[in-house]
Amino acid sequence: MDFCTFLVTLLCIGFLLWVLVIMRLDSDVLTFSYSYFGKSLDRAFSRKVVWITGASSGIGEALAKELAKHNSKLVISARRIDELNRVKRECLELSKTLKDTDILVLPLDMTDYASHQPSFSKVLNHFGELDILVSNAARSQRANWEEIESEVDKELFDLNVFSLLALNRVVLKYFCRVGKGQLAVVSSVAGKIGLPFSASYVGSKFALHGYFACLRNEIASKNISIPITLICPGPVLTGNLKVAFTAKKGQELRQNVRPMSKRMSTERCAYLSLTGIANELEECWLTSFPYLQLTYLSHYQPFLAGRVWKWICSSGQAKNMRDGEESIKNGN
Ligand SMILES: NC(=O)c1ccc[n+]([C@@H]2O[C@H](COP(=O)([O-])OP(=O)(O)OC[C@H]3O[C@@H](n4cnc5c(N)ncnc54)[C@H](OP(=O)(O)O)[C@@H]3O)[C@@H](O)[C@H]2O)c1
Repeated sequence: MDFCTFLVTLLCIGFLLWVLVIMRLDSDVLTFSYSYFGKSLDRAFSRKVVWITGASSGIGEALAKELAKHNSKLVISARRIDELNRVKRECLELSKTLKDTDILVLPLDMTDYASHQPSFSKVLNHFGELDILVSNAARSQRANWEEIESEVDKELFDLNVFSLLALNRVVLKYFCRVGKGQLAVVSSVAGKIGLPFSASYVGSKFALHGYFACLRNEIASKNISIPITLICPGPVLTGNLKVAFTAKKGQELRQNVRPMSKRMSTERCAYLSLTGIANELEECWLTSFPYLQLTYLSHYQPFLAGRVWKWICSSGQAKNMRDGEESIKNGN
């Protein structure tokens, strides 16, 4: 065998091994490796003050609980105060060291921009500092592209993008003043790939990547360290489809997800997200086949990804792939 053939064979074997490895993972290779060999969550988060938006259910709730296990002081925000109080009680039960005053329930409607600064002042009055802001509050969507009312585009961007940016600006000014801090943003694989039937949502998540890529570079020019992690989960087992936007203004999808579905558990999603934040990764993709492979393909080979999507959509599998078989309408 001459050297060229040897090299090509080696490359082919390497590529096949790579494909086999990522077929079995539930996150990108870097995040997966750090979950075994990275900084321990105890070391990263113990006694740190972490503010989580959208902490009354789903991924935000799971993040709060995982952080409580690692003794973080928490600020938990959302609109439903009863649910926040429940999350606080459950966090205190899970933690060995946290006291009642270590978890601040801070009701907040993200779209009430005027309340951002006063809310942040309450955080500083209570804890005297903030180490990490986790921007998680958002709503998903299911809709056909051409039927989406402009008001829905605006309302969805207002919550998923503009309100998030506004709160991050308030907090970032403080981080720049004290010369440290960390931002984490819960995006989605929908911020990496053009998942069909959620156009405003996909657009909102893509927008976050642009905004925070720009911020990352601006921070670098200030010579301070404020790591930014964009967390990109695939399907996760939450109630997000109940309150998802549709194409019509004021309408909620009211759809449930089967508990037996192939979605990632909120606990696993929270653990991997915190692995990404602890190790200051710029992005973590938290999903398995086929979304993980499609995300890799879109990131590194957009042309090939386009071909694959064309095949998925023209063969009528796109809706099923999203949540067709595993979702059920209320009452069915
Ligand atoms: N589940 C998935 O499959 C999946 C996949 C990829 C990415 N994500 C992302 O993960 C994040 C969390 O979603 P989830 O699945 O955990 O959904 P979820 O259970 O519906 O949680 C959404 C959270 O956002 C809060 N929220 C909604 N509107 C708000 C507002 N106006 N002001 C303040 N808080 C508000 C909700 O609390 P209140 O209603 O009490 O305000 C709730 O705590 C989102 O960014 C979502 O895009 C989810």
